[in-house]
Amino acid sequence: MGKDKVQIFDTTLRDGEQVPGCKLDTKQKLVIAERLDELGVDIIEAGFPISSPGDFNSVNQIAQLVKNATVCGLTRAVKKDIEVAADAIKIAKRPRIHTGIGTSDSHIKFKFNSTRDKIIERAVDAVVYAKSFVEDVEFYAEDAGRTDNEYLAQVCEAVIKAGATVLNIPDTTGYCLPEEYGAKMKYLKENVKGIDKAILSCHCHNDLGLATANSIAGVMNGARQIECTINGIGERAGNTSLEEVVMILRQHPYLNLDTDINSQLLLSTSQMVSEKMGMPVQPNKAIVGSNAFAHSSGIHQDGVIKQRETYEIMDPKDVGVSESSIVLTARSGRAALAYRAKNVGYELTKIQLDAVYDNFLKYADRKKEIMDNDIHEIIETSGVSIQS
Ligand code: KIV
Ligand code: ZN
Repeated sequence: MGKDKVQIFDTTLRDGEQVPGCKLDTKQKLVIAERLDELGVDIIEAGFPISSPGDFNSVNQIAQLVKNATVCGLTRAVKKDIEVAADAIKIAKRPRIHTGIGTSDSHIKFKFNSTRDKIIERAVDAVVYAKSFVEDVEFYAEDAGRTDNEYLAQVCEAVIKAGATVLNIPDTTGYCLPEEYGAKMKYLKENVKGIDKAILSCHCHNDLGLATANSIAGVMNGARQIECTINGIGERAGNTSLEEVVMILRQHPYLNLDTDINSQLLLSTSQMVSEKMGMPVQPNKAIVGSNAFAHSSGIHQDGVIKQRETYEIMDPKDVGVSESSIVLTARSGRAALAYRAKNVGYELTKIQLDAVYDNFLKYADRKKEIMDNDIHEIIETSGVSIQS
């Protein structure tokens, strides 16, 4: 049976770019947009065109540049926002307007001083108006994570009737548990009339470290689009990380879900975004962190050297990492030392290895990590005669 496709909606250039101090200029955004297109994302959310003339210009230029992906502009449920977004993306091969409004009781009361019925009216008006410019209209129910499911279903039904093609269910505050977010998707799938005409989309924030888990729970319960960013960057604790959801679906084939992402470009894309935004990737970041395929304890190193799969669930090459690394520290064993020594040209016999290993431990206790050039010195000062 063929796998169901999950669309990847990349919002690195919109939600991701809301990170304080990480503003990108238009030129940088164009380079990133081109790379996202090459990576195989289905939708690029290029920005929020009403927010500034600079953002309008970036969205417009991205719309001209991108060859394959849909290019999307964000709006509030406000006519002027929609007109400006429509203008910015009209040149795109596949334009999408992403409009919406807060639907939780706290948003309705404190942001809009309004009522549930009036919010539905505004949502419908926004979708109808956006639809007068483009065919592809995505609706977001902001703070859907804390919106009562019955009311959320009413909102969804109304906007589908008005022509929305995608329904974004954001866990704006990163509050939901995976079971809860998955159940929300299931509820909508089962209770919204006309739901088969629209795609449900996961948009999760990472305030409790659950953005990826929630997005996966969403697609396991019927959603077919995930909104995410490279390296999981975004407001506060960030958004769902693109590389994580892509590799989770690929490494769990029984879920029968996949994306069109060329995963071998994941590492280089992560590095490009990190460098352009001036935002380092944490070493232990899943998939793309510098330690994601580095093994440093003796037991793990011995296993990986014997057979990679003992401690690796993915082939590093699949995400663009040339090979796993064996990091030499005072926790490393003889197998790791022999392996690294061989890589720099020394075939050690068992007796030679024992002698070199004792010397190695003295060095390793002094230094945090033993590098290739240290290996030469360790071997030369170990009192055994070895030809490299
Ligand atoms: O987190 C959120 O609710 C959003 C919407 C504007 C889509 O980013
Ligand atoms: Zn968001």
